[in-house]
Amino acid sequence: MKAIIERIGSEALSSLAAAKTPTAVEDVRVRYLGKKGELTAVLKQMGALSAEERPIIGALVNEARKKIETAIISRSKELSKTVTEARLMAETIDVTLPGIDPGIGKLHPLTKVLNEITEIFLGMGFAVAEGPEVEYDKYCFEMLNIPKGHPARDTQDTFYINENVLLRTQTSSVQVRVMLEQKPPIRIISPGRVYRVDTVDATHSPTFHQIEGLVVDKGVTMADLKGTLQAVAKSLYGNDISVRFRPHHFPYTEPSAEMDATCFVCRGEGCALCKGEGFIELLGCGMVHPKVLSRCGIDPMVYSGYAFGMGLDRITMMRYGIRDLRLLFENDLRFLDQF
Ligand code: DAH
Repeated sequence: MKAIIERIGSEALSSLAAAKTPTAVEDVRVRYLGKKGELTAVLKQMGALSAEERPIIGALVNEARKKIETAIISRSKELSKTVTEARLMAETIDVTLPGIDPGIGKLHPLTKVLNEITEIFLGMGFAVAEGPEVEYDKYCFEMLNIPKGHPARDTQDTFYINENVLLRTQTSSVQVRVMLEQKPPIRIISPGRVYRVDTVDATHSPTFHQIEGLVVDKGVTMADLKGTLQAVAKSLYGNDISVRFRPHHFPYTEPSAEMDATCFVCRGEGCALCKGEGFIELLGCGMVHPKVLSRCGIDPMVYSGYAFGMGLDRITMMRYGIRDLRLLFENDLRFLDQF
């Protein structure tokens, strides 16, 4: 029996030494020390022994059990150490590898130019006003002296939600909203998207962007309009450019004008961009019509004002030499990444 116990002990120890995983160690434990294990089986045979032999064999079994248990514990520790080491090796981060480019986005060219223009006006004491793109006919046309059937509507056909609600064709609608809500002094710009029935080509799109401006106060004159817009043009295109005003007609201003600025490509000499003119059209403007003022509850005998509207898309295209308007709306990163 002594020989059997010794064999069991040494077999258990060598199996443990050969065990490569925690499960293999557990298998060894069950096989030798478990309820149906080999060492337990020896204990069960003790009844057959004589009274003298029993304590001796009992002691031997206990000794063997202790040895095996100690070996199990130390083997388990060894194994968990190597498992941890293996994991650490596998999960090592090589800090010298090149990083992954997170692909940081950029501002759209329209946003960049808009920010620049907004900055110029903010510096001159203007605030930014907003208005809805889905607008009442009343604010987009009616209150701006463009009643139903007026020929000025022909060039601004739009998308109607119903008879009185439409997609705004001009940011001039915000002028009305601001004058109805605020009392003078008023000094705002209002950038935003506008819509017209237009077939898409290199210079037309059913959706584009405008920046509206409105100043109403006591004693505002055409000289204020000219001085302010000239300063804006110089900030945008450089101090050496000049501006010129051509008479025009808008139903909501009187007098009305269009402002041109020296062509920023040829600086006035005449080139393909300005079609030999030396000047490029920048915006429409004028003194707010007295009827528009009084409709909005502002007394035209006390107050006067000027207004203007410029096309952001056109200014952006001129700024970056973009020849096709469609590029601004196609969201092609190969194009947008250049700015
Ligand atoms: N709303 C005009 C357009 O879409 C631009 C414009 C002209 C705005 C004169 C104004 C203005 O405020 O006074 O073409």
